[in-house]
Amino acid sequence: METVSYPPVIVSAPFISTLEETAQWRDQMDAEGKRVVFTNGVFDLLHVGHVRYLNEARALGDAMVVAINADESVRELKGEGRPLYTAADRAEILCALAAVDRVVVFSEKRATNAIETIRPHIYTKGGDYTAKSLIDEEREVILRMGIDIQILSLVQGKSTSNTIKKMEGVAPVSEKPRLALLGSGTGSNVRALVESIGSVTLDAEVGLIMSDVAESGVLEIAREKGLTGIHIEPGSKKRGHLTDAALKEIVDRLKANRIDLVILAGFMRVVREPLLSEFSGRILNIHPSLLPSFPGLNAAKQAVQAGVSESGCTVHLVDASIDGGEVLAQAAVPVESTDTADTLQVRIQAEEHILYAATIQNYWKKLQEK
Ligand code: GRF
Repeated sequence: METVSYPPVIVSAPFISTLEETAQWRDQMDAEGKRVVFTNGVFDLLHVGHVRYLNEARALGDAMVVAINADESVRELKGEGRPLYTAADRAEILCALAAVDRVVVFSEKRATNAIETIRPHIYTKGGDYTAKSLIDEEREVILRMGIDIQILSLVQGKSTSNTIKKMEGVAPVSEKPRLALLGSGTGSNVRALVESIGSVTLDAEVGLIMSDVAESGVLEIAREKGLTGIHIEPGSKKRGHLTDAALKEIVDRLKANRIDLVILAGFMRVVREPLLSEFSGRILNIHPSLLPSFPGLNAAKQAVQAGVSESGCTVHLVDASIDGGEVLAQAAVPVESTDTADTLQVRIQAEEHILYAATIQNYWKKLQEK
């Protein structure tokens, strides 16, 4: 058998620079009028999110130094079993990237000393931070030294922890939920949700909007906002019914769009299997009454006719019952003696628009903590 011989590979290059060497290198760069970018992190098991982040950071200046946490501090920060790779290995891998010029290792939990010694021109951090949320100690040094702070966007859903979860067969958790919004009518809740996204109330993204009504306001909102809007042909004229084919199409679309939470907002069809099992504990609905009072259609009318002094709205999980799933949150609305079903419905909806976004946010947080 023919054997192929390759030239020996030299792997003795010093992949880790000391802080002092790096500080000298920085001065040399400075003298040449070049700007040095600094970033820090663990960089255990490199993934595409790291690569994109590092490329973006490097493009801000002329050279880049990456400070990585020593193994002991990674264990403290991330727990037993981490890092997966030693600092020496992590440094070697990082040095192979075109964006990275130098790697230093710092043993403290914070990079403050490394920043102070190296004195970079630009400091960058991933977008889960804001200039305000930077660790006080680091921020104080950065500001005192007149270093330019740049917060870069984070690549969603890509993380070492998620990669490990995938390998362990555990479903990865995205940082923010991808929502599917389903409605049949005007879509004032859909609009309120879409418009509160990106605010403090709701950190999420809309993967798609679906409706069983082709001309619904809900799909109009999708068009207006440049979101994916899909009409699902319900396949049945029977009120509130979806055929098996329609249900399958919904499930397929949800999966293809990597949806985390299914948000019903005035969706006038009964949700059943296989959707319930496929998204078990991940389908939410909003109903215009304080459940368990007045489930079903015309809840505001039911409240006015019953002569109650208080009604409101409920966000609940969806199960096989009609408006009977676990209650996640409620907001009360007083019923005036002059109220008609319409006037009450308008005031309830104003509350719905606030309650739904906040409840989705809280529920997602709870799911992630599980
Ligand atoms: C809302 O009142 C909601 O509680 C109920 O249907 C109504 C939908 O209204 N499930 P809109 O389409 O969001 O304006």
